Amino acid sequence: MKNFIKLLLLLMVMMTTLSTQSMAQKKDVNVLVLIYSDNGGTLELAKEFAKGLEKNSNVRSVIKQVKHSDNPILKTIPVVSMEELSSYDGIAFGSPVYFGNISTGMSKFFSKTIDLWAKHALEGMPASVFMSAGTGAGRELALQSFWNTLAVHGMILVSNGIRSNDKIDRSTAQGNSVLGTTSLVSIKNVPRPSSAERLLAEDQGENFGKVAKALQGTFHKESASIEQKNNNDINQELINKNIILPDVPKPAGNYQPFVRTGNLVFINQYALKNGKLQYPGKLGKDVDEKQVKEATRTTMLNVLGVLKDAVGGNLNRIKKCVQLTGYFNVTDDYTKHADLMNAASDLVVEVFGEKGKHARATVGASSLPGNTSVEIQAIFEIE
Ligand SMILES: Cc1cc2nc3c(=O)[nH]c(=O)nc-3n(C[C@H](O)[C@H](O)[C@H](O)COP(=O)(O)O)c2cc1C
Repeated sequence: MKNFIKLLLLLMVMMTTLSTQSMAQKKDVNVLVLIYSDNGGTLELAKEFAKGLEKNSNVRSVIKQVKHSDNPILKTIPVVSMEELSSYDGIAFGSPVYFGNISTGMSKFFSKTIDLWAKHALEGMPASVFMSAGTGAGRELALQSFWNTLAVHGMILVSNGIRSNDKIDRSTAQGNSVLGTTSLVSIKNVPRPSSAERLLAEDQGENFGKVAKALQGTFHKESASIEQKNNNDINQELINKNIILPDVPKPAGNYQPFVRTGNLVFINQYALKNGKLQYPGKLGKDVDEKQVKEATRTTMLNVLGVLKDAVGGNLNRIKKCVQLTGYFNVTDDYTKHADLMNAASDLVVEVFGEKGKHARATVGASSLPGNTSVEIQAIFEIE
């Protein structure tokens, strides 16, 4: 019996060690590709860069922009929050060239990073840059000016050198540069970014991914989490709590997923999950309370997915959840609507804290669209 217990303990220790090792091996390397763009040229390079990053196993990329853009090409790209910057394993910055310099949009963004600088929050983190230019006049000056700011932040600047130059068509002007890839969008003898410029950006991304992977954990990131806690960064909270917001469900008729009027956003959703209704039917007949509570949480996640879209990806712009109304498909004698609705209310308070506390109504319905078991109407106040 004693030997059996010893063997069991040994097995447990081995399993813990193995799972710790495999967790350590599998830790994702998260790289932010952060852009400002007017016309989308920088976004095209960003996509290639991200593709290159993800050629490395365990390297994950996310493209974000420094401010919301109404340009249809750019408006779905999420907006970064200042607080999340230091949580990454590396950042690649992209911008248009403006008069041999970085763009005003990117420059304004950098001017807001002064607190991060004072806290050394980006020190030791790898950085890389790429730019969309017109003719390319002054592009190396512009890349250099990017480096100036990042050097002041103490970031590790990863250059291109002459990487991949031997792979590209050099019979026409290309945006290769030792400091980072550029694209020469006004030189229209070939579509831009040219295939060579796309390849340069992708290779730059792949190399940057390797560097970020090698440097992961070598620089200080604690200041970031303290900052995030203090500032209550909602976007980061969602990541920490593993709450994944779904893509915005497409409208099923002639209406909008959300309408903003003044500072209020109005949203209505029902229990769609991966394009299918979750637990459809009437409570007490087809589905039980547990299932309807799950469908209610799913519906609220859909509301939050739409809300994120409404604020250009930055949930920190939410000032208040004003009101929620839950409609439940129930039998005539059912009375515990409030219990069901708590699945939605709890989620909103979990995500937004005090700002999530809302007025509320719940209603029983004899039928709901498509036989969903729940529908939620929500009103949020935003900045
Ligand atoms: C104010 C301003 C200044 C610019 N200065 C330059 C420049 O010095 N050199 C250059 O090659 N292109 C210059 N451009 C062109 C942009 O860099 C080019 O259109 C770029 O591709 C835009 O990128 P985007 O598509 O991501 O907005 C300038 C554009 C603007 C609006």
